[in-house]
Amino acid sequence: MITKSSLSKKSIPEETTQYSSAKEAVDVLTVEDFDAVEFWVGNAYQAAYFYYHGLGFRPVAWSSLKTGNRRFASYVMQQGNVKIVLSAPYHPTTEMAAHHMLHGDGVKVIGLTVRDVETAWEESLERGAKGLTPPTELKDDYGTLRYATISAYGDVVHKFIERDSYEGPYMPGYKEYKPIVELPDVGLERIDHIVGNVELGKMDPTVRFYHQVFGFGEFIEFTEKDIATQYSALRSKVVRNYNKKVKMPINEPAQGLRMSQIEEYLIYYHGAGVQHVAFHTNDIISTIRAMRQRGIEFIPVPQTYYETLTERVGEIDEDIKALAELGILVDRDEKGYLLQLFSRPIQDRPTFFFEIIQRKGAEGFGKGNFKALFEAIEREQAERGNLI
Ligand code: FE2
Repeated sequence: MITKSSLSKKSIPEETTQYSSAKEAVDVLTVEDFDAVEFWVGNAYQAAYFYYHGLGFRPVAWSSLKTGNRRFASYVMQQGNVKIVLSAPYHPTTEMAAHHMLHGDGVKVIGLTVRDVETAWEESLERGAKGLTPPTELKDDYGTLRYATISAYGDVVHKFIERDSYEGPYMPGYKEYKPIVELPDVGLERIDHIVGNVELGKMDPTVRFYHQVFGFGEFIEFTEKDIATQYSALRSKVVRNYNKKVKMPINEPAQGLRMSQIEEYLIYYHGAGVQHVAFHTNDIISTIRAMRQRGIEFIPVPQTYYETLTERVGEIDEDIKALAELGILVDRDEKGYLLQLFSRPIQDRPTFFFEIIQRKGAEGFGKGNFKALFEAIEREQAERGNLI
């Protein structure tokens, strides 16, 4: 826990202990963007197949027994600027195996590209972060890469990566991988945001951690006022870095009549963790069409959602018929609008899922959809006589 005395001279001023309004970000850890997201899974080979054939992420590098890695198998998947790393342990008595036993498949590492690893490490520790791996330099034929890791929330860690002098696909230790078939991508361009679920009462301390340790700005996405129904029981605040490329909403469950979706996650993940990663596309209609053709399942959106769509979001460029056919959601804020869609959980446990998003000016995360989606579901429920 952070105390005032542990904060450095560059620490954020006093008023930041209140979280009722937006706070400006300060560039203290030199964080520029998301880097790779690393999943620890039970079977990296099969997960890689899913990410390639289903989501269009091409395997570009790997580390395994065949490349001299005696501890785990790992595939680096790439699409646009997004890198996903899928790793699975060979042996049971390892941290990776224990993590998988407890959490199932899930995100272990949220990589952050930094300008200077030493600064990120020293400043974050001085400000109260728990350090895991001190700055480490690795070299191979592609150049030199520096990294360090610190604790995030739950068992999630942040890896600071400085890759200015590195040309390889991921990190030293990985060799080039050539898939046996060539498949097209689905148009994913970059990571838009990564959402964490934390236990009741942990949202504010987690947000404070990003604010005080990272210097990230902060604003509220959902409050109780925004909760549309008794089922949509969650609270959410968003932290983001100075250039807004790194955006991380943090959710906690709120009281409702039924089990909150966040509570369900926490039960099955056995603790706090990453709920979803949102990938940005510049053409959501063709992205979703391609993913559906590849068999990817999304949360079903009732057709009633589209009946009042124009009333809610005004005029949009897209053909509403196409959006309705593909089940794409739309939301508007004061800066513009966005289109988005959520997958079903992509493993057996109802834990991690992903989101596809296309922003057309909007800077929010789809608050209006949350309400509209749940209202639409309830209308259907009422028609069946089941909203009791
Ligand atoms: Fe999201």
